[in-house]
Amino acid sequence: MTVGQELEQLRSEVQGCLRCTLAQTRTHAVPGEGPLSAEVMLIGEAPGVNEDRQGLPFVGQAGSFLEELLAEAKLTREEVYICNVLKCRPPGNRDPLPSEIEACSDYLSAQIRLIDPRIIVTLGRFSMSRFFAKQTISRIHGQPRDVNGRIVVPMYHPAAALHQRRLRGVIIDDFRTLPDLLEHVGATDVDEPKLSTEASGVQQMKLFE
Ligand code: URA
Repeated sequence: MTVGQELEQLRSEVQGCLRCTLAQTRTHAVPGEGPLSAEVMLIGEAPGVNEDRQGLPFVGQAGSFLEELLAEAKLTREEVYICNVLKCRPPGNRDPLPSEIEACSDYLSAQIRLIDPRIIVTLGRFSMSRFFAKQTISRIHGQPRDVNGRIVVPMYHPAAALHQRRLRGVIIDDFRTLPDLLEHVGATDVDEPKLSTEASGVQQMKLFE
């Protein structure tokens, strides 16, 4: 099977998924979208009301802001892969439950394996927690880190930044760092000894020394 076929199969599986009770309340599952060749993968939290209606990620207000942020990073929506930790909307947009995150986890692992992006941008704390379980977003936002040979950049969630003036400037600044990062990652092997081990055990890239 080609990677495209595998991704298509994954999409059908997600659309018919019955692994948790969110299947009973969703209108549409939201597998994610973007080209196979995407160098950047954005991982949000979970579909909201508009995403649930349309079956597409980030199509509401947070989606419009995300597109503005991508423009700050000299990227377009069409060239990145966008998905979520949860593929179905939690009723009333409540926080994802640990059991739901666990039930959905294999889908996200498969998406990361198939798209094989150079850079993963996590949006919000639930997405960050998948890679940096013990961290807080206020401490590590905007800092690229190496996770098993792949670069992960935690960022605030656009919906949070939309409603908090201070965070808006922070997330814009964080997105503006992506072009340099992409250039750097394209040019070097991330396994080279440019890495230092942080107290948490997470390896952090020293990119701009
Ligand atoms: N918020 C998310 O985290 N994901 C979406 O798809 C939409 C809003």
